[in-house]
Amino acid sequence: MSWRRVFPGRADQIPLARQFAMFLFAETSIAAEVGFVVTELATNSVRHTRSGQHGGRFTVELVLGGLAYVGVSDLGGGGYPTVRHDPLNGPVESEGGRGLRAVSQMAAMLGVHGSPIEGHTVWADLICIDKPYEDPPLATSVA
Ligand SMILES: Nc1ncnc2c1ncn2[C@@H]1O[C@H](COP(=O)(O)OP(=O)(O)OP(=O)(O)O)[C@@H](O)[C@H]1O
Ligand SMILES: [Mg+2]
Repeated sequence: MSWRRVFPGRADQIPLARQFAMFLFAETSIAAEVGFVVTELATNSVRHTRSGQHGGRFTVELVLGGLAYVGVSDLGGGGYPTVRHDPLNGPVESEGGRGLRAVSQMAAMLGVHGSPIEGHTVWADLICIDKPYEDPPLATSVA
């Protein structure tokens, strides 16, 4: 099952995107993680790309499953999404760089498609071991 929704590229849309994602994952144990990832990726799209400029937009794509997918597509125009690793000290608070690092730590896989010209999709796979429904009985005993 997958969902895709386009949001205006404004900061006030980020809580809506997070709520949309958490609602879809409400029956799973990873709703909070999905909400966090959507918040970080959507915030980056608005802050670092043309998505945050007048008339801009960002797109959230979600796939529910044993390996869940969260992707946020932007309009590019900035640099490249970069996971900042500093194993000794971590990023200095004021320098940022915490968002993608935190996402990379909770994701099974983190990736980027696209380019600054056409825009990027930054995506994360999250392990979701919940059963989405009760298995039907394999056999019915006959009395
Ligand atoms: N969608 C994007 N398009 C272009 N560049 C991006 C995008 N997302 C992130 N970046 C680049 O990667 C860097 C690291 O992103 P990250 O989210 O880790 O930190 P941040 O946004 O600078 O700060 P914060 O810790 O508040 O998230 C950013 O500073 C920015 O230069
Ligand atoms: Mg960020």
